[in-house]
Amino acid sequence: MVKQILFFLSLFFIVACGDEKEPEKKIVKEPTKGELIVKQNCKVCHAQGLNGAPIIGNKKMWGPRLVQGEKTLVTHAINGYELMPAKGGNTELTDDEIALAVKYFISKVE
Ligand code: HEC
Repeated sequence: MVKQILFFLSLFFIVACGDEKEPEKKIVKEPTKGELIVKQNCKVCHAQGLNGAPIIGNKKMWGPRLVQGEKTLVTHAINGYELMPAKGGNTELTDDEIALAVKYFISKVE
């Protein structure tokens, strides 16, 4: 009887410990929120440079725009600017989400 209890107890501990180790196995790098927003709303134009949209990570194209400062870039992205539609055409996006997307663009310029 005692042996049986010990057996079940040890089984319980093995299972409990096994569960705890589970999250360690998944080391998947989650994309940032800004990256996701860009992927879903901005890449259509900013991946290839449609209509002259500055291409993600292209220093030459972003350089003259970056000097305006992040605040101006965010304002332009929110309100629209030349051929850049307001909020990339998705009015569901909040101003904060646009700011995150612009931050992602800036982080990609080396
Ligand atoms: C329909 C195509 C299109 C989509 C979608 C789009 N853009 Fe643009 N974007 C443009 C074009 C074209 C320009 C260049 C405008 C110009 O200077 O003539 C631009 C320029 C910009 C600029 C630079 C503005 C400046 O002041 O120089 C920012 C910042 C920007 N886009 C952010 C975004 C963000 C953030 C998204 C997604 C939420 C987005 N864009 C989606 C076409 C697009």
